[in-house]
Amino acid sequence: MTKPLNIGLVGYGFMGRTHSNAYKRVNDFFEREYRPVLKAVCGRDAEKAEAFAAQWQYESVETDWQKLIARQDIDAIDICTPNNTHAEIAIAAAEAGKMVLCEKPLSMDPEEGERMVAAVEQAKVPNTVWYNYRRVPAVTLAKQLVQEGRLGRIFHYRSQFLQDWTIDADLPQGGAALWRLDVGAAGSGVTGDLLAHCIDTAIWLNGSIRDVTAMTETFVKERMHNLTGKVEKVGIDDACAFLCHFENGSLGLFESTRYARGHKALYTFEINGEHGSLRWDLHDLHRLEYFDHRDESIIRGWHDVHVTDGDMPYMDKWWVPGLQIGYEHTFVHQVADFLEDLAAGRATSPTFAEALETQKVCQAVLSSAETASWMSV
Ligand SMILES: NC(=O)c1ccc[n+]([C@@H]2O[C@H](COP(=O)([O-])OP(=O)(O)OC[C@H]3O[C@@H](n4cnc5c(N)ncnc54)[C@H](O)[C@@H]3O)[C@@H](O)[C@H]2O)c1
Repeated sequence: MTKPLNIGLVGYGFMGRTHSNAYKRVNDFFEREYRPVLKAVCGRDAEKAEAFAAQWQYESVETDWQKLIARQDIDAIDICTPNNTHAEIAIAAAEAGKMVLCEKPLSMDPEEGERMVAAVEQAKVPNTVWYNYRRVPAVTLAKQLVQEGRLGRIFHYRSQFLQDWTIDADLPQGGAALWRLDVGAAGSGVTGDLLAHCIDTAIWLNGSIRDVTAMTETFVKERMHNLTGKVEKVGIDDACAFLCHFENGSLGLFESTRYARGHKALYTFEINGEHGSLRWDLHDLHRLEYFDHRDESIIRGWHDVHVTDGDMPYMDKWWVPGLQIGYEHTFVHQVADFLEDLAAGRATSPTFAEALETQKVCQAVLSSAETASWMSV
C-alpha cells in the first residue's frame, strides 16, 4: 500500500501541465512508498481552473493560494506561477508546514531567495526547485562520467540557450503568456529564464562559479504593456553573454538570446577536459556525445551515445534499449527522486539552498553587465 502525498498545485499553465503529468505517471513506472494525489489546483480564474481540474482530474479547485495553503488536507504546495509570486507563496507554505516544490528561477533576486531558504530551513520542510534538465538521462549520465574522472582536469565549460520568439517589435509585454517580457513579473529576461538552467546544470556538473563578466542587450526598447494598455520601457534583457571562472580553475562561456532566428529551445553544453570532452543538445536530448583521447588512435573520434540502455540513468524504468523518452520524463524523474528522498528522509537536489547559488550567479551577471566590470559571485 502506498502512502498518499496530497498535492496543491498553484498555476495551471505550461508547468502546471508538465508537473500534473509527472504526478499522474510517476507510480506507474517507479515503485515508491508515496503516491501523489491531485488534491487541488489553484488559479485566479475559477472557470479556467475548473476546466483544468476536470481535464487533469484534480479533486478540487481554489482561486486563492492562501486558502489552498490553509487546507489541512494538502501536504505539498507546488508553485507553477510567474517568478514574482514564488517567494510569497513559498514562504507562506513553509510557515504552514507544507513541503514546497517551486519552479525556477527560485526568486526575483538573491535577497528574496535568502528569505525563502530561511523559511524552508526553519520549518524543516522538504523542498526542491524544478531545474528539470539535470534529470534528462543523457545529462545525468554526463554527471556520472565527470564524477568518475573520465574527462580529467576540466579546462572549459560552454553553454548556450537560444530562442527566437520575441523578435517581433509589435509583441506586447505583460499579462498571461507574456509575463516573461515584463521585468516586474519575471525579474530579468533571458538571464533568469534561460541562463538559470544553463548555470544550474553547469554548477552541478563543474562546481561553483567564482566570478563573471557579462553583457546584456535589450533590442526592442519599448513595448505595449498588456496590463496598463500603454507603451512602456522594456526592462528585461533580450540577450546575455558572459564569461566566468569556475572554482576548479576552468573557464566558462555562456550565451542566451530570444533573437536567434531558427532556434526554438537550443540548449547545449560542452565540457572539455584533459582526457576528453562531452557535448549535449536539448534538440537531441537522448544523445550524449563523448570523446576520449585515450582511445586507440586509429578509431579515436566522437562517440554518439544513444542513452536508452537499462544501465543508463533512469532508463531501466522505461521501455527497451533503443527506444527513447522525452522532455516530460524529466519532470517524472524529479518527482520520482523527490518521493524516494522523502521516504528516506533525504533532501532532493536542487534544494532551495542550492538553487540560491544559481540566483547569485544570475545577479552577478546582471550587475556585471550594468557596471561593465567583473563581479564576484
Ligand atoms: N523548469 C522549466 O523548464 C520551466 C519551463 C517553463 C517555465 N518555468 C517556470 O515556471 C513558472 C511558470 O511558468 P509557465 O511557463 O508555466 O507560465 P504560464 O504563463 O504558462 O502559467 C502561469 C500560471 O500561473 C497563474 N498565475 C499567475 N499569477 C497567479 C497568482 N497570483 N495566483 C495563482 N495563479 C497565478 C496563471 O494564471 C497561469 O496559470 C515560472 O516561474 C517559469 O520560470 C520553468
